[in-house]
Amino acid sequence: MEHEVIARCRALAECTEEPGFTTRTFLSPPMREVHALLTRWMEQAGMRVHVDPAGNLRGVYDAARPDAPRLYLGSHLDTVPHAGAFDGILGVVMGVALVEQLRGGRLSFHIEIVGFSEEEGVRFGIPFIGSRAFAGGPVRDTRVDHAIGAFGLDPTRMAEARADSAALGYLEFHIEQGPVLDSLGLPLAIVDSIVGQSRLELRFSGAANHAGTTPMHLRRDALAAAAEWITVVEREARAGGDLVATVGRIEAKPGAGNVIASHVNATLDVRHAEDAERRGAVTRLLSCAGQIGARRGIDVCWEERLDQAAVRMDPDLSQFLQRAVAPHPVHRMASGAGHDAMIVAGRMPAAMLFLRTPGGVSHHPEESVLPEDVGAALEAGSRFLALLEAQYG
Ligand code: HGY
Ligand code: MN
Ligand code: MN
Repeated sequence: MEHEVIARCRALAECTEEPGFTTRTFLSPPMREVHALLTRWMEQAGMRVHVDPAGNLRGVYDAARPDAPRLYLGSHLDTVPHAGAFDGILGVVMGVALVEQLRGGRLSFHIEIVGFSEEEGVRFGIPFIGSRAFAGGPVRDTRVDHAIGAFGLDPTRMAEARADSAALGYLEFHIEQGPVLDSLGLPLAIVDSIVGQSRLELRFSGAANHAGTTPMHLRRDALAAAAEWITVVEREARAGGDLVATVGRIEAKPGAGNVIASHVNATLDVRHAEDAERRGAVTRLLSCAGQIGARRGIDVCWEERLDQAAVRMDPDLSQFLQRAVAPHPVHRMASGAGHDAMIVAGRMPAAMLFLRTPGGVSHHPEESVLPEDVGAALEAGSRFLALLEAQYG
């Protein structure tokens, strides 16, 4: 089944906004193709499928009794630009595979597979749109509502996306997206916690002018100011222990080679396991931006897009997972990447199982998984269901 899981992820990676690359953002047209493919596999496995008002794909595999509790499995369907074939989607495909392996046998709990509509935050700079609606705290943004309406869904019915209050919990399979398991030579890891993250957009405003006639001392160059600040971001992060800080996107206007940039928009992504450390770093980096701007005659303003606290995974559910993974060697670790599980954890017990990322390469077309690791994760997933069945059956 592991080869089928990998083949399905690679087939889904072809559903893209950008031929030749995998780029699939919130409720973009290729998301319909993803829904169609997953719906086919879900229905073949005996699930009832619908898309909720947040654009989450929901496949329900009924329990033996209608009043049974519910276990959720899932991850996100969207990708970053030029993504790999496994970030997010692997968790959904693995959930479907686990249901298929039940071969029609009914358990004492419903299983619901959720394909979240937007985790990365690429389209509108707002991450976790799908899982925030699922957890009961939907994003309020007119652009999001418009995109939901354009996809043929009704944003006024967002409450229907909320998870069942009688939830046993949520399990997310996900690639590690880093080098730890690969360096240890291990296939799987149980996630103990997910680091907190801050996401902001900064705007540097100066004055456009002629690149040839404007002397250097008379310039208000927004791009030079942003560039100076970006080196400060890197220097602060390098000095800050486990702190990571990234300026992943920068846009300069008017964007001509012979015009001094009047405006620059830049993103800032800051992460740390300790929220106070993270928030302190954000405060310092914004203060530096203001000082650089003041010295250069550049106005600097910013908007916070996300302040997501660090989240511990549920110890009891993780203990079940630890028993289910045996006899495979399993590592325990924190996740530097954000995941839907950190949002869902606000509503129900949540656990995550990482699969090794060969070379630690992710958010990149070369992202991969090993068939034997997918096989080990499927075995662990089946044992996890059996352990829950023994507990609740
Ligand atoms: O950015 C992240 O941490 C995740 O890949 N969305
Ligand atoms: Mn990602
Ligand atoms: Mn992901």
